[in-house]
Amino acid sequence: MTSISDPPATVPPATVSARLRAATAVAHEQAESSPFIDDLMSGRLDVDAYAGLAQQLLFVYRALEDVGDRLAGDAVADAVRDEKLRRVPRLTADLAALGVDVDALTPSPAVAAYVSAIEATVADPARYVAHHYTRYLGDLSGGQVVAHRMRQHYGVDDAALTFYAFDIDKLKRYKDSYRDSLDALPLDADGVDRLVDEAIGAFGHNQALFADLAADRG
Ligand code: HEM
Repeated sequence: MTSISDPPATVPPATVSARLRAATAVAHEQAESSPFIDDLMSGRLDVDAYAGLAQQLLFVYRALEDVGDRLAGDAVADAVRDEKLRRVPRLTADLAALGVDVDALTPSPAVAAYVSAIEATVADPARYVAHHYTRYLGDLSGGQVVAHRMRQHYGVDDAALTFYAFDIDKLKRYKDSYRDSLDALPLDADGVDRLVDEAIGAFGHNQALFADLAADRG
């Protein structure tokens, strides 16, 4: 028998961070188990595969950080923006260490679409936060495992893995406070819906990026 005090069968997560995590959980699993990532993480590829990923990520982070700079002063974007997260200089240095000429790179079709999606968020900071969350919180989480495996499987030098190193003392504490910032975003219900939808889309763009990298390798 149900009583009036029983919660409904499915309780929607109360906070923005919980909603984001729940809404992207399946997409996260798919990204983690996509053939390119699975092969890369299991040691079945080579250092060139890691370099290929880093090259494509350079376009993604240039867009993320360019839009982030343009949104400086916006209360929604400023809630998550942080100089400590800036990755373009590190990614550029990593690529140099890998012997890649960054001026000769072109984005894959999926990455070109990903970049356009990020650029469009300059008009909607709630959507910008979705891209920020998807990449940076991922780098602070699974990214740490990626760096470890690249060293372990392919002998990638630390000088080519600075992308995954953050000048942040306690990553867990930082991620907790990032989630607190998400939960305190000055957004109405519609803004939160747009954020969550865009995060699902951002995971899709990452999946498409991995599919391009897999296709490149035949
Ligand atoms: C290489 C494969 C991956 C592994 C091993 C991995 C692993 C993890 C782990 C263990 C966490 C939980 C960390 C925590 O709760 O503090 C996490 C969180 C996260 N990952 Fe991944 N991940 C991978 C790929 C990805 C990809 C491709 C993306 C998106 C581009 C991504 C985005 C995220 C995000 C946004 C979170 C934070 C979830 C939240 O707490 O709201 N991850 N990942």
